[in-house]
Amino acid sequence: MPHDCFFATQPVRDAGRAMEPRWVRLSGSSRAHFFAKFRGKDRMRRPVNIAPPKGKLGVLTPGMGAVSTTFMAGVELVRRGEAVPVGSLTQMGTIRLGKRTEHRIPTIKEFVPLARLEDLVFGGWDVFPDDAYVAAAKAGVLEAKDLTNAQKFLKNIKPMKAAFDQNYVKNLQGTHVKKGKTKFDLADQIRQDIRDFRKKSKADRLVMVWCGSTEVFLKPEEVHRDLQSFEKGMKTNHPSIAPSMLYAYAAISEGVPFANGAPNLTVDIPALEEYAKVRNVPIGGKDFKTGQTLMKTVLAPGFKARMLGMNGWFSTNILGNRDGEVLDDPASFKTKEESKLGVLEYILQPKLYPQLYGKIHHKVRINYYPPRGDNKEGWDNIDIFGWLGYPMQIKVDFLCRDSILAAPIVLDLALFFDLAQRAGMRGIQEWLSFYFKSPMCARELYPEHDLFIQLMKLKNTLRWMMGEDLITHLGAEYYD
Ligand SMILES: NC(=O)c1ccc[n+]([C@@H]2O[C@H](COP(=O)([O-])OP(=O)(O)OC[C@H]3O[C@@H](n4cnc5c(N)ncnc54)[C@H](O)[C@@H]3O)[C@@H](O)[C@H]2O)c1
Repeated sequence: MPHDCFFATQPVRDAGRAMEPRWVRLSGSSRAHFFAKFRGKDRMRRPVNIAPPKGKLGVLTPGMGAVSTTFMAGVELVRRGEAVPVGSLTQMGTIRLGKRTEHRIPTIKEFVPLARLEDLVFGGWDVFPDDAYVAAAKAGVLEAKDLTNAQKFLKNIKPMKAAFDQNYVKNLQGTHVKKGKTKFDLADQIRQDIRDFRKKSKADRLVMVWCGSTEVFLKPEEVHRDLQSFEKGMKTNHPSIAPSMLYAYAAISEGVPFANGAPNLTVDIPALEEYAKVRNVPIGGKDFKTGQTLMKTVLAPGFKARMLGMNGWFSTNILGNRDGEVLDDPASFKTKEESKLGVLEYILQPKLYPQLYGKIHHKVRINYYPPRGDNKEGWDNIDIFGWLGYPMQIKVDFLCRDSILAAPIVLDLALFFDLAQRAGMRGIQEWLSFYFKSPMCARELYPEHDLFIQLMKLKNTLRWMMGEDLITHLGAEYYD
């Protein structure tokens, strides 16, 4: 470890702001003092030790549709040596430690104690009774060869009955659903399912990743304000408590980390944030960052880095899977639209750069078009301008595979949320923003959307957890 290090007086997350961090050289006791202050401010202690990932890790997914079954089948094929976990940072990523001259670049899974794929077991809930094999076949993501290879394994994963209400997903008619007088009763039943699964699967630890359909748009309200109002709301069947919130509440109650892969409000409410802190449970969301938004958070930071202006960004998609059918309902689309629209505003910061980004027309369209199935096509037309205001255009046509992009995210989230819990981290895990379209963060912050800042934040969090120096990319020490 180097004796002298450079640190920004602002946390790394400020790197994208106009405010320039001041750099200071720290050594010995001043460094310890700096970290103590920094830690005090963040109210988060660096884990002294991280519990080892002993035994099995159960991954529970409310929703066993295209994304969830592609994830489960993929893990099985990878652990049998029949596939490569492309797209997964936990399985394929590396992390640089120390100075560039040290050449210490372990893989992430060597560096931090993650659960092994061999130790994963799976469970889930769905409004349809299909086992994971039938659900995967219906989803139409995997080719026959892969489906056949994973058939026996997938057949054994049968969904538990869902807590579901069609008022929240208009285009779905579920048959495999729980009955209960109140929402509180339903949450209790989910808690029992979790306990039963833990016992049956002999899992030592569990994580839950919401892979269910996108629910109708809900805004935070009084009933979401604190745990007491929320529990009262469940008992009186308050309409602003959606089924996904019941899963999140049940997970937190059972000490199970919860990540939200859809844009629903779900765990992004003060009541459940507070509850997660009280119960020492990590939570996060929302909406897996795949396809078009992934491209947006790659391209937009590039334009901004070069101070290129923008007049508009028009995005349209065609997709024909069940997710597309659900999003055909305007109320579910509204939830998705809100999640997709925020991205540019936060990356481009029009208030700071009114001449470059003050008048952007940002439109997002999703069209349900059955012939495409899960193989979505996303078009982007980007109107930018350069030196002296001269206009230019960029067209992106991404012929992507939705669930192929989402599956490795489910895996990474499951492993990192489990790691976070073993490291004693609780509440919102902002360092995992990298995986989300609409990342949750502390109320007083704005979310960080730039993929590269998000990656730096993620890797620095891993370094911090393991007691390694954070990497600032200053590099001045090489020229001293
Ligand atoms: N690239 C992607 O595929 C991607 C990206 C970002 C977000 N998402 C989100 O991830 C979620 C899953 O996507 P998908 O393509 O697998 O969709 P899908 O329609 O194939 O699967 C969702 C499943 O959830 C089930 N479900 C709905 N409500 C439920 C409830 N209350 N309890 C239990 N099960 C319930 C449905 O029956 C369905 O089988 C969607 O919300 C989608 O918007 C997907």
